[in-house]
Amino acid sequence: MLEQLNEIEQSALSALQQIEEEQALEAWRVSYLGRNSPLMRVFDGLRSLPNEERPQVGRRANEVKRALEEAYQQKAETLRQVALQRALQSERLDVTLPGRPLARGRLHPLNQTLRRIFAIFAEMGFQVYRSRDIESDEYNFQLLNFPPHHPAREMQDSFYLDLPHPPDNPVLFRTHTSPGQIRAMREFVALNPADPPPVRIVLPGMCARYEQITARSEIQFQQVEGLAVGKAITFSDLKGTLEDFARRMFGGGVRSRFRASHFPFTEPSAEMDIECFVCGGAGCAVCKRSGWLEILGCGMVHPVVLENGGYDPRRYTGFAFGMGVERITLLRYGIEDIRYFYSNDLRFLEQFV
Ligand code: PHE
Repeated sequence: MLEQLNEIEQSALSALQQIEEEQALEAWRVSYLGRNSPLMRVFDGLRSLPNEERPQVGRRANEVKRALEEAYQQKAETLRQVALQRALQSERLDVTLPGRPLARGRLHPLNQTLRRIFAIFAEMGFQVYRSRDIESDEYNFQLLNFPPHHPAREMQDSFYLDLPHPPDNPVLFRTHTSPGQIRAMREFVALNPADPPPVRIVLPGMCARYEQITARSEIQFQQVEGLAVGKAITFSDLKGTLEDFARRMFGGGVRSRFRASHFPFTEPSAEMDIECFVCGGAGCAVCKRSGWLEILGCGMVHPVVLENGGYDPRRYTGFAFGMGVERITLLRYGIEDIRYFYSNDLRFLEQFV
């Protein structure tokens, strides 16, 4: 028996010396240390040995097993080192080479403008409120005091969706962010119906109108709506807020003006213009010779709209405005065509770091 163990040990160790790769090492392990190896059979046979031989053979068998396991571990480590050296050789790195420049993404110019708008209004106490892209006729028009068949609806020719709806309340892609006014007011009222809290919010969102696409108007565009409702809000608050906004957005020296206008959901209503960025007010093709460019519509919230939102118009007043994010971005960077924003042209987009 002892003789046999010596033989096993010797032949195993000499076979191990020949091995140069991992697969062969695994085969070696199976044949010399595996379940059916001669060594394991010696262990299996211990039981049938006479008592006086058993301890000696057992000890020797364990010795051999340990020796083989150790040799195996060593060999495995050697092979690992060799493989590593080989990999280092074949994947030689020159660490002194300059790095390759990474292509870095950046924010779309419209998102940069949006963030700036949010930051300016946040400092004035306005929170961001999000409303839905798809609206009902009721919210987009009726609750905003557009009478049925009112011509103002044609100012905002709508994309209707082919979805089931009550006969007088079709579904559409919102034509402006103003329906969010009603949704927000109703949510605020639900917080405390007896004495609704004041509202200071901006509502960003994508809008769509079925219009001809030109350098100045897209069928799809973003607006930011603003809404302030409270117990003593006046038109002066509206003007002060928006003039301050314009100064912060376009620089302290920018000239702006309010022009009387009309919207069904505000009374009185106005539009705000900024001095033309191309001609500086002298008059050119971009501003249609007027020297001014419109950036937003605004006004005092119409009593009917307050009422529809759940605010008692005898106790509350408010102002609202809606600005075109593309329009403001055009002005901010001196871009001359609105169609660049959605054309996915890197030559355009890469200019806005
Ligand atoms: N909703 C108007 C538009 O799309 C803008 C506006 C908003 C006007 C709020 C007044 C008050 O043109």
